[in-house]
Amino acid sequence: MVFPETFFAERTSLLKASEIRQLLKWVAEGDIISFGGGMPSPATFPRQQIIEIITEGINEHGDKLLQYGTTQGLKELRSELRNFMEWKGINVSSIDNILILSGSQQGLDMFGKVFIDEGDVVLMELPTYLAAINAFKPYNPEFVGLKMDDDGIIISALERILKKLESKHKKIKFLYTVPTCQNPAGVTLSMERRKRLLELASEYDFLIIEDDPYSLILYEPIEVAPLKSMDAEGRVVHLSTFSKILSPGLRLGWIVADDKLIEKFVLAKQVMDLCTSPLLQYIAYGALKRKVIQENLTKIRALYKTKRDKMLEALETYFPDGCKWTRPIGGLFIFVWVPERVNTKELIKDCSKKYKVVYVPGQSFFVDGSGTNTMRLNFSYPTMEEIEEGIKRLGQAIKERL
Ligand SMILES: Cc1ncc(COP(=O)(O)O)c(C=O)c1O
Repeated sequence: MVFPETFFAERTSLLKASEIRQLLKWVAEGDIISFGGGMPSPATFPRQQIIEIITEGINEHGDKLLQYGTTQGLKELRSELRNFMEWKGINVSSIDNILILSGSQQGLDMFGKVFIDEGDVVLMELPTYLAAINAFKPYNPEFVGLKMDDDGIIISALERILKKLESKHKKIKFLYTVPTCQNPAGVTLSMERRKRLLELASEYDFLIIEDDPYSLILYEPIEVAPLKSMDAEGRVVHLSTFSKILSPGLRLGWIVADDKLIEKFVLAKQVMDLCTSPLLQYIAYGALKRKVIQENLTKIRALYKTKRDKMLEALETYFPDGCKWTRPIGGLFIFVWVPERVNTKELIKDCSKKYKVVYVPGQSFFVDGSGTNTMRLNFSYPTMEEIEEGIKRLGQAIKERL
């Protein structure tokens, strides 16, 4: 072994570069249309209000906001979040049930640290959020994939898996789900299945991590109650973020959970970063208090709905027969299946070099290694013209491979 390999801990061999980061690099280097990252449209950033909030914060509370803060987060923000959660249907008994994070990604890393011993079973949707897989992987769990259809996790298949794991005396630590407008698949777990999932968590004794960045970005008048709002036993850890409703550059997320779980998360966060920036937390606090977020949501929904519709229309027009895709009721992504003989990891080489368009190949979202003929398309970031042109180019690239 050569320098510096001998110094790295063994688990670092399980750290993987996100394919999305690689794509973003390609995009930065050339004149490429990107359906890759999950970036919000900069048109949705409330710049002027943020300037006003930060100016007020520093003028009136500078000593506090420019100082270290508590690990659990600004009380004012947690209190506003408690109201915000109530608006979403989640009853939070105390602000101490809320922990502020430096991005919800910090929560994913924390769940790995706090819950996973080597060999523990972690249940993941097929496909699931790539950065969650990458966050849990270094702790060496046994990932078990859960099949989905248009209504999310297929409960009968989950029950079969749970019975089998029980017969093998395997310890299931948690089921990680993005139940509403899933990333990457764009599907939403039906209400009936949500209820059954909670019953199964109780029966088979596991936690549910509900990752919920998208339930306020809906384009259809559909009611979806968060799993946390139906959680009678404290089994659901609710994770959310300001990234898609305010700005991802602030790196702010939060957890709502049972006191005992929060206590452990606080200890884990303390060694990760001591505290999340109080100044940035104040921006989120101000944006909630002044209803900037609540009002901005109307703009976000209208803009992304138009983009989603444009992409669905372009897919109909330009994609060849034998392709199918999801029709998300919200969120930022459409998931596509191309004919099985097309490998989307191979296809992306033609796309990036010849056709100047990129997407995320779907295989890395599947913990069982399937999905070689799938891709995730983001519609929030590209312009309407880029959506039309990019889907046209992608359609040509696929046809060339058939
Ligand atoms: C399902 C899911 N979880 C977590 C995140 C990460 O969000 P944050 O920017 O708060 O780290 C994202 C971002 O795209 C996401 O889609």
